[in-house]
Amino acid sequence: APSGPLSGKHVIVTSGPTHEPIDPVRYIANRSSGKQGHAIAKAAAAAGARVTLISGPVDLPDPKGVTVVRVESAREMLEAVEGALPADIGIFAAAVADWRVANAGEQKIKKKDGALPNLTLTENPDILATISHLKKGRPALMVGFAAETENVIEHAKQKLAKKGCDLIVANDVSPDAGVMGGDSNTVHLVTQSGVETWPTLPKAEVAEKLIAHVGVLIGGVKS
Ligand code: C5P
Repeated sequence: APSGPLSGKHVIVTSGPTHEPIDPVRYIANRSSGKQGHAIAKAAAAAGARVTLISGPVDLPDPKGVTVVRVESAREMLEAVEGALPADIGIFAAAVADWRVANAGEQKIKKKDGALPNLTLTENPDILATISHLKKGRPALMVGFAAETENVIEHAKQKLAKKGCDLIVANDVSPDAGVMGGDSNTVHLVTQSGVETWPTLPKAEVAEKLIAHVGVLIGGVKS
């Protein structure tokens, strides 16, 4: 492995959307491309870390030098993260579906004249909050993302507290910002001690800057 600021560290990154089955052939999903999460995994590996990338279904190649675990649903993603622990750093960039279908069909749901299927939704586990609140085995540094369409910083501060992570990377995903599926991103780093806003940058550069920032933060954490 290359040496660098994250040498000897294990970093878990989540990326992409999740797919929540309705039946064996249908699912609920979202528009996340996985570009930002995959770029972070690549930047962490380049900084010398051992990286486990846990990815939902994406159209991206596996970053070189990274262990990739492919999953479909939020529950599978949580299991894969738990299976990848222990880690020094968790960076949770996946756009996890908030809900899944409680009564997913084991067979393809048949179209019946005049009758509509009745899908009941239930809440998915919050992976970031679950891992951040672990009493034993919590990574020393937990980073979450917040995709917001308004009051970006206020919502990020609330999320930092609620999820129990150390840093929230907040971005504006209103349609005119062009972030979802796009190649650049404007982010605000929100911690207990304040807010740092970065200029609009390509996602690869956001990833490199974030990894450099994480290297400084983790360097400051003494055990
Ligand atoms: O609550 P919201 O989805 O806006 O929070 C975003 C952050 O929480 C992201 O870091 C995302 O990866 C994480 N998250 C998660 N599991 C969920 C929902 C969100 O890990 N079920």
